[in-house]
Amino acid sequence: MEQVTREEFRLSLTNLTAADRFDDRQQADPGKERAERLARLGVPERYIELEIDPAAIPEAARQWRTRQGNLLIYGRETGTGKTTTAAFLCKLIAETVTSFRFVGVPDLIIRARATWNAKRGGETEDEIVDKLVRPGVLILDDLGAEQSSETSLQLLYAVIDGRWSQNRRTVVTTNLEPADLVARYGDKITSRIFSGVQVQYSGNDRRIFTA
Ligand SMILES: Nc1ncnc2c1ncn2[C@@H]1O[C@H](COP(=O)(O)OP(=O)(O)O)[C@@H](O)[C@H]1O
Ligand SMILES: [Mg+2]
Repeated sequence: MEQVTREEFRLSLTNLTAADRFDDRQQADPGKERAERLARLGVPERYIELEIDPAAIPEAARQWRTRQGNLLIYGRETGTGKTTTAAFLCKLIAETVTSFRFVGVPDLIIRARATWNAKRGGETEDEIVDKLVRPGVLILDDLGAEQSSETSLQLLYAVIDGRWSQNRRTVVTTNLEPADLVARYGDKITSRIFSGVQVQYSGNDRRIFTA
């Protein structure tokens, strides 16, 4: 086997042309960079890694990207693919939309509650609302799974209405049926959530009905 001395190895590196170096850079893993970006924007790792079967993503959800308005993904049963669909859309829009954010509603309310309890320092509620109103697309995952209170309702209203009035699009996933959403959140919040496309998931076979 041919031995390369340390000096020869060093010389071989310095003889690399600019083009060679550029090629080296291009070999940086684009899949990894994309995954890191999705993670920074809040998409849970589990769903970033999940190999999604695109055939199981309802057409109406897919087409939402090219339509106006919000997207509501709902269905009583868990595990039918609601969050998976939202994460799939994130992967698609990450290519074109410069700003989006994925947030779990229970997490959001826990974070907000920490600001209500804290005397000073840390994130303020205004900052939380602002961060969620600003992105072009926001995914609110698992609405209805949070511990509800007057204050959590106000926070959700501020986020949803703030986005609505800026014409920014919001995707909501929930285990609640539309009538349950109205009962729990009232007309003001739900009329904004409902404006756009609704996709219902039911049963294990992920049969889809659109309204
Ligand atoms: N389109 C899909 N392709 C591949 N796996 C899927 C798909 N939809 C759902 N799954 C699987 O089902 C599990 C539950 O889906 P999830 O989106 O978390 O359900 P939900 O949010 O409705 O409770 C996922 O962790 C994933 O393993
Ligand atoms: Mg879910």
